[in-house]
Amino acid sequence: MKVTLTSVYSPYCFPTLLKSSSLSTLCRPFCSSALPSPPTCVKPQVPIFLRPPIYSNKLCDLNKWHDWAKGVAFSIGSTFVHSDNGPDSSILCRELKWLMEDAVEVPSLDDERVRMRIDIEELYCLWKQRVHERRPFQYVVGCEHWRDLVLSVQEGVLIPRPETELVVDFVSDVVSENEELKRGVWADLGTGSGALAISIGGVLGSGGGRVIATDLSPVAVAVAAYNVHRYCLQDKIELREGSWFEPLKDMEGKLAGLVSNPPYIPSKDISGLQAEVGRHEPRLALDGGIDGLHALLHLCDGAALLLKPGGFFAFETNGEQQCKALIDYMENNRRGSFCNLEIRADFARIQRFVIGFRQ
Ligand SMILES: C[S@@+](CC[C@H](N)C(=O)[O-])C[C@H]1O[C@@H](n2cnc3c(N)ncnc32)[C@H](O)[C@@H]1O
Repeated sequence: MKVTLTSVYSPYCFPTLLKSSSLSTLCRPFCSSALPSPPTCVKPQVPIFLRPPIYSNKLCDLNKWHDWAKGVAFSIGSTFVHSDNGPDSSILCRELKWLMEDAVEVPSLDDERVRMRIDIEELYCLWKQRVHERRPFQYVVGCEHWRDLVLSVQEGVLIPRPETELVVDFVSDVVSENEELKRGVWADLGTGSGALAISIGGVLGSGGGRVIATDLSPVAVAVAAYNVHRYCLQDKIELREGSWFEPLKDMEGKLAGLVSNPPYIPSKDISGLQAEVGRHEPRLALDGGIDGLHALLHLCDGAALLLKPGGFFAFETNGEQQCKALIDYMENNRRGSFCNLEIRADFARIQRFVIGFRQ
């Protein structure tokens, strides 16, 4: 999880709705059956591109909106870049193009009218939110592209970041060499949108391996449940609401693997975050306490308790200092609990992850 939010969104067309509980359908992301009731009363929002094209609008009105929106984007220039490393006009114009592609049904009805997934009035509103309120683009369109997935996201749920994708590669490497770990139970703690849990569910394949994904946030649990269902992985991924290991009391010494990208930003740094992040993403997902290590150290203690011997873990951190602090903690305060501890870098070569095994 980076402290800036660079948009990696790109439009994507889904194939026809399919229903299957088999993992081989991971790249066919829909179940046609009704969505299950989420574990809480939170109602996940449907991303724009999945909504039915029930609005009919004049092409000239759409063009009028587009010209206005482009003007707003150009008026920003580099203002946000200078204030907090936010998006410049060119990024906003790219997002505008993607918003159009999500909102407008192709082909158009005729030369004068288009079918749309949201009304033009709402488009004005959404673009004002994007530019003037700095609402993250992913919340505006309701989804984020992450690995091979398109995940639904909304306020209250962290937008998954590209560097976190590497955690899935670590898991993939480990299970490709160890059939027992592949057939075991994995946990994704602080699952957010369910990104890690869903990808790891795919990596575990059609054997007996499964994932328990937990989060303290009821919104995150509901959105993760929605995403799990869209990828037809209900049989593979179980969602549990609660704080860290509290919903995993039945798993002591039984976990084959544990991954987490917990909140790790030091509290004092939250106010300096890019507006898209600091103003809109949930503090619960960002704030790691005084030194940012609050959740990470708790996760080390829990990993020692819940992983079975030979079990694997991967934690994402804020950078080199936190990685070293974690290793130090595991070697000294949890002596004899872990082995093969390693620090791994992210795509930007920042020392980002601590991985290792239960002794
Ligand atoms: C940095 S976000 C990561 C979300 C997701 N795993 C990802 O990588 O996109 C941290 C997540 O931890 C959750 N969280 C915070 N405190 C928690 C707690 N005490 N117990 C469980 N989850 C918690 C937040 O709600 C948030 O979803």
